[in-house]
Amino acid sequence: MEWTQEQRYRSYQDWPADYLEHLKNTIQASNWRLNYHIQPVTGLVNDPNGFSFFNGEWHLFYQAFPFGAVHGLKSWYHVSSSDLIHWEEKGLALAPDSVYDAQGVYSGSGLPVGEKLFLAYTGNVRDQAWERHSYQLGAWMDTDGVIEKIEEPLIKQMPEGITAHFRDPQIIRYKETYLMIIGAQTTGEKGTILVYESYDLKKWRNLGTLAISQDLGFMVECPNLLFIEDKILLLLCPQGLNQKTLPYQNVYPNTYILADAYKKETNSLENPAPQQLLDEGFDLYATQAFTAPDGRCLSIGWIGLPEMSYPTFEDGWAHCLSLVKELKIIDGQLLQYPVAETKELRRSYEQLIVESNEAVTKETTNCYELEMVIPKNTQGVVQLFADEKGEQSLSLTYDTTVGKVRLDRRKTDEPLNPAFGETRETVLEENSPLHLRLFVDHSTCELFFNHGLKTMTAAYYPTPQQLNLFVRGNRKFQLDYYLLEK
Ligand code: FRU
Repeated sequence: MEWTQEQRYRSYQDWPADYLEHLKNTIQASNWRLNYHIQPVTGLVNDPNGFSFFNGEWHLFYQAFPFGAVHGLKSWYHVSSSDLIHWEEKGLALAPDSVYDAQGVYSGSGLPVGEKLFLAYTGNVRDQAWERHSYQLGAWMDTDGVIEKIEEPLIKQMPEGITAHFRDPQIIRYKETYLMIIGAQTTGEKGTILVYESYDLKKWRNLGTLAISQDLGFMVECPNLLFIEDKILLLLCPQGLNQKTLPYQNVYPNTYILADAYKKETNSLENPAPQQLLDEGFDLYATQAFTAPDGRCLSIGWIGLPEMSYPTFEDGWAHCLSLVKELKIIDGQLLQYPVAETKELRRSYEQLIVESNEAVTKETTNCYELEMVIPKNTQGVVQLFADEKGEQSLSLTYDTTVGKVRLDRRKTDEPLNPAFGETRETVLEENSPLHLRLFVDHSTCELFFNHGLKTMTAAYYPTPQQLNLFVRGNRKFQLDYYLLEK
């Protein structure tokens, strides 16, 4: 069904009262609903927002359009958890119901301040001529989960030289002040990041654009500045990044820049390393991270991409969020690995042996974890979501002699955005064993190479017959298979 602009931006109260119930029932029939990933109750999920720890619990919000699988009038939906694995539905948290966010409560962040959780987000407004206006807004959530919007914008006006593409505020504490990091576009159509400073979360002073001296495409979305160990990690989504700067195939990349320090005096990053891809798979975007009170730096991303089409659109829902990952810097390199709590999903264990040149075959529920160490000088393939003959599958070919892996999603009844490439490759250490841990959940797969030194995320939509796992190699090794269930 084609959605008109009128339908996408219809106000929430104008939908029939039983519409969501009806949609929820339809969605139950979808073959691709997930088990242990956060997915929308109905409609579409995109960016994670307000990821935080407050009042003894983990809190997470996400961009939601509940009425269908399209990018319509966005709100924040709220889930909370005691273990980062089991998430309780808390419902709609921030609705697009004020003059400053009438056409969308856009992305932002959460920070505990005193007895409350401070939420910062962008209000998206379209005027009569459908011209965009962006406001940086605030709200407070109390310990009963009651949210009150702050009436007046924290930042009402974009600064000189910046277009209305000015959004996704991240609030962090910095020494005796707070900083707000905002993604933006210059009037010369270059991506940029702005930093504001405040002592009281009320008055915000513009510190200007963050000096990085790197290509940031035509617009930066969802920037996150993190103080991690003794380094600075900047996460960002530079739309339209030049493919010569960084070879990527997704419509827009999710990238990171590691630096030695942030200097507020010059609003700059010290010794920024060249931008890198955060994920080398197909469908990860808008990753958000924060430093938890237990000292861990935790991240979560959107498994989906803007402007792309996915088969669940027909089923009335779309996308999910990634596993929660812990970010670490080891020997100057970023590692992203599922949090230790992820092991709580394991229900049963089976050890499988891959004999040299003999495929291991297993019928699965498409809801499992695999861990293996592939010996050096080995070539082979791991086929996930495979049909009985192995003709259809999401397949990972590996060669530990040259240290290359390649993820291939061509063999499917549901091709996903083939114009953006149907294979992804990454390079790991040559002549070395390869540690691989992967998570399959009905229509998504997350792969972690060498303990998170490289990651690949992929959506994949199998037929009901594609339930097998095949693993082959020309050397013997062991597979640890865990059935997972929330
Ligand atoms: C990124 C993004 C953000 C925006 C939000 C709207 O996916 O475009 O920049 O705030 O999604 O849903």
